[in-house]
Amino acid sequence: PGPGPRLGCAALRNVSGAQYVGSGYTKAVYRVRLPGGAAVALKAVDFSGHDLGSCVREFGARRGCYRLAAHKLLKEMVLLERLRHPNVLQLYGYCYQDSEDIPDTLTTITELGAPVEMIQLLQTSWEDRFRICLSLGRLLHHLAHSPLGSVTLLDFRPRQFVLVDGELKVTDLDDARVEETPCTSSTDCILEFPARNFTLPCSAQGWCEGMNEKRNLYNAYRFFFTYLLPHSAPPSLRPLLDSIVNATGELTWGVDETLAQLEKVLHLYRSGQYLQNSTAGSRADYQRLPDSTVPQEDYRCWPTSNRERCHRLEEVESSSQISPVVQ
Ligand SMILES: Nc1ncnc2c1ncn2[C@@H]1O[C@H](COP(=O)(O)OP(=O)(O)OP(=O)(O)O)[C@@H](O)[C@H]1O
Ligand SMILES: *[C@@H]1O[C@H](CO)[C@@H](O)[C@H](O)[C@H]1NC(C)=O
Ligand SMILES: *[C@@H]1O[C@H](CO)[C@@H](O)[C@H](O)[C@H]1NC(C)=O
Ligand SMILES: *[C@@H]1O[C@H](CO)[C@@H](O)[C@H](O)[C@H]1NC(C)=O
Ligand SMILES: *[C@@H]1O[C@H](CO)[C@@H](O)[C@H](O)[C@H]1NC(C)=O
Repeated sequence: PGPGPRLGCAALRNVSGAQYVGSGYTKAVYRVRLPGGAAVALKAVDFSGHDLGSCVREFGARRGCYRLAAHKLLKEMVLLERLRHPNVLQLYGYCYQDSEDIPDTLTTITELGAPVEMIQLLQTSWEDRFRICLSLGRLLHHLAHSPLGSVTLLDFRPRQFVLVDGELKVTDLDDARVEETPCTSSTDCILEFPARNFTLPCSAQGWCEGMNEKRNLYNAYRFFFTYLLPHSAPPSLRPLLDSIVNATGELTWGVDETLAQLEKVLHLYRSGQYLQNSTAGSRADYQRLPDSTVPQEDYRCWPTSNRERCHRLEEVESSSQISPVVQ
């Protein structure tokens, strides 16, 4: 994986440890280990999935139905390739092979991720959640200015994304669309969501202005930002975070401004400037100690996200022993 030769059918000949990862309406995803040891994801049309199943029931044409479903996978593969970005799942290659009854079945080979579990995310640190929101901001900025035009994700739910090293990446692109909506007046430009509708302007060229980017933004607000950004954030960053949540929920900003504000939060956090105004502590209380570690690593487990490197102090505390901990 990585830059270098593309993977093809040869790479799939001797994979090991195949494991089912998940499936949706059309596709099934498996995790496999390549002969070199790297783990990758394989995506193919799910032969027992709803999409193929309902088509075959209706039309009785297995090969034709396969081609229809495989078209979605093919479209996704082309988009992964054309939209390359750190927050778009990386395509490593693909393989066409004949199966028992269907010629030329397509398997795509991509970077492996972990499913986005919202409940789990709500229990991680604010830093982890902010990283995901920033990833999403960078992705939406890229989609709005992509070489193909402004790309919108018609099906935008957490399950269309995976996490790779704590970064959010889009994996399901079969419902992406590039064309903006044509209009004769703004009454043609209504963005509908379950809790809220927005009317956008109709441009002189006859397109709904910014509709693709604003659809993405509001979805980012309702599925991610509103849950992940403010909760347990450093108090001094709250006003800025609240303004990001509010502006995306009201669609008052475009994608450029939204990303600029998210990057500003990153800058304030990274530089330590966010500590200057807080009552919890000032920057003078902290000192940078390069290459330092905590010798005993005896901090408590529950507030840390690093489960392997903490002592189970809370177990001792709950049994009210006061003695050094030996794990
Ligand atoms: N690269 C990957 N690594 C790990 N898991 C993945 C990867 N790609 C997809 N998945 C998981 O597999 C599931 C199915 O993939 P995908 O969303 O592409 O299929 P689909 O049939 O288009 O689904 P949907 O009906 O949601 O549109 C996803 O919900 C996701 O959790
Ligand atoms: C496939 O992998 C197995 C186990 O790693 C190895 O013993 C075998 O030689 C490999 N076969 C080929 C054709 O590479
Ligand atoms: C949005 O518009 C649709 C269609 O016009 C309407 O049925 C729905 O009630 C509206 N929803 C809200 C929250 O205003
Ligand atoms: C944004 O802020 C205004 C003013 O406080 C408030 O009325 C509105 O409900 C907020 N919108 C969202 C989506 O949070
Ligand atoms: C800290 O306070 C200064 C001065 O009041 C202000 O300009 C700056 O934006 C504040 N920073 C944060 C992170 O709130």
